[in-house]
Amino acid sequence: MKRPLLAGNWKMHLTLAEARALASLVAAASRELSEADLVLIPPFTALAEVRGAIAGSAVALGGQDLFWEDKGAFTGEVSAPLLKDAGCDYVVIGHSERRLHFGETDASVNRKTKAALRAGLAPIVCVGETLEEREAGRTMERVLTQIRDGLDGLGREDMDRVVIAYEPVWAIGTGRNATPDQAEDVHRFIRRRIEEKYGNGAASCAIILYGGSVKPANTYSLLKEKDIDGALVGGASLEAGSFVEIAREAIKGRKERQ
Ligand code: PGA
Repeated sequence: MKRPLLAGNWKMHLTLAEARALASLVAAASRELSEADLVLIPPFTALAEVRGAIAGSAVALGGQDLFWEDKGAFTGEVSAPLLKDAGCDYVVIGHSERRLHFGETDASVNRKTKAALRAGLAPIVCVGETLEEREAGRTMERVLTQIRDGLDGLGREDMDRVVIAYEPVWAIGTGRNATPDQAEDVHRFIRRRIEEKYGNGAASCAIILYGGSVKPANTYSLLKEKDIDGALVGGASLEAGSFVEIAREAIKGRKERQ
């Protein structure tokens, strides 16, 4: 059975003291959550603090973004090798907030994904449609473009490390999650596209997360779906109790699915 992956994206929240406290609680709880993979994704400022707090546990660390060059005169940016050096195993790429506020495109997502893979990081590549696109019946078309262009040029072996997060933009931070059926439709669509391009092995191993208003109460029903392998959690990851409960519910959902 594939283990569920739960990634907590803290976005632009938490002081060092708050980050340390939250990460310590998650690390302590993780001992009873050995059937799930947990990742904490703090702001860059708290990476070292969180790294210390999760040391010795199975919890992994991730960055929220990177720049595609490995080093150089790029004030304000952080590279994949720097994230790796800071203890990261994962990095979020192309989050819809970055697409919306910071001009991220499928082309920049592609360059960043390749930079992450070069440095040995697992990219969590975010895709998802806006409400307008969904209402116009263009969800699959949008997601297809995002995965085709965002993952362009990747080889079969790269796909073993790529995580895809389907996050409908209208569900992020709104309290309105996609229904399990809506999410499963898109997850299945993504997995089929991976199968067409990289074959059955890559498709069945691919980790496809759902994101958008994930909370303890909706995790079980989402994770019971065949093609939903975990969750990228925003708001509900800022509190240890709810993030840990999400992990428990995810484990339950996955077992139910077998
Ligand atoms: P949310 O955010 O859980 O607060 O909706 C999800 C995300 O942006 O990854």
